[in-house]
Amino acid sequence: MKSIVIQQPNTLVIEDRPLPTPAAGEVRVKVKLAGICGSDSHIYRGHNPFAKYPRVIGHEFFGVIDAVGDGVDTARLGQRVSVDPVISCGHCYPCSVGKPNVCTSLVVLGVHRDGGFSEYAVVPAKNAWVIPDAISDKHAVMVEPFTIAANVTGHASPTEQDVALIYGAGPMGLVTVQALKGVYKVKQVIVVDRIDERLAMAERSGADWVINNGSQSLPALLEEKGIKPTLIIDAACHPSILQEAVTLASPAARIVLMGFSSEPSQIVQQGITGKEISIFSSRLNANKFPVVIDWLTKGLIDPDKLITHAFEYQHVKDAIELFEKDQRQCCKVLLTF
Ligand code: NAI
Ligand code: MN
Ligand code: ZN
Repeated sequence: MKSIVIQQPNTLVIEDRPLPTPAAGEVRVKVKLAGICGSDSHIYRGHNPFAKYPRVIGHEFFGVIDAVGDGVDTARLGQRVSVDPVISCGHCYPCSVGKPNVCTSLVVLGVHRDGGFSEYAVVPAKNAWVIPDAISDKHAVMVEPFTIAANVTGHASPTEQDVALIYGAGPMGLVTVQALKGVYKVKQVIVVDRIDERLAMAERSGADWVINNGSQSLPALLEEKGIKPTLIIDAACHPSILQEAVTLASPAARIVLMGFSSEPSQIVQQGITGKEISIFSSRLNANKFPVVIDWLTKGLIDPDKLITHAFEYQHVKDAIELFEKDQRQCCKVLLTF
């Protein structure tokens, strides 16, 4: 089989590898579609601190089960599945409180273990979630990015009364907009970014008001309209954003952080405690595949609005370079296998 391997930072090779055999409790997935994410590019460029090389990247993938290991029901052969990349031990403290996404021995497919940019991938059977026939392949490959939004909103419990502010209109900001509008029916969703084309994508995904904070002052605009956001989600992830969010937030607001910056954020405690703001962080997803599959079944979200390009896997280098260089035109780039 062919696999897309990062042999070492900046060296991507399409390798011939032996067809893997699923071990006990595993299934083999014949991959049909995979999505390119920022973290794939970070591993390629050597900017992901968790990655070990060589590595088959890819943690957003969909395909069909074509072999099963010992102990797995053969009825699973032929199932269309999307694969949850989060592999957890099931018995540590975080696992015991429903947070397998921060398991003490967390393994993420495509990061710590070979992932889905490959003609075939072996994965734990319980990570392969069945996709109902009514959900298309293109929607199925988008389940994982939407699980990030399901995890974020799971922490924040949005209501229709919320006034939400989302920093960043990249893929992560856009999946969050769709969840807030489509699933939670939040009255007002405001999105800020520095790139007008991305703000236009946010409007297509349902944002009520978009603001370019490269050319306009977000605090001044909100002040002018008397708006104090009750829910703020940082999907831009610059360390300076937290203090601004604390300042702009309504009393009793919730703030959700998604970033992995290693630079410190400077924040004033009084601003947080004085308004009793709740600050959450959200990493990957905790058992959110069934949640997003349900959203898709009910038509509450529309992944098509995020998919801008598709390439055959042989052109993966071009695909990643386009994804990295063209933030104005690119959102989700898919690979076909
Ligand atoms: P992206 O880079 O495509 O999007 C980020 C957007 O934020 C860009 O459009 C950029 O113009 C905008 N931006 C940057 N600084 C800004 C600022 N100060 N104000 C307003 N907008 C600003 O990235 P993507 O894929 O959407 O991911 C966003 C962030 O989420 C990344 O930092 C990534 O590491 C993180 N992430 C976290 C996950 C988690 O589970 N916690 C999962 C996936 C991504
Ligand atoms: Mn991703
Ligand atoms: Zn665990």
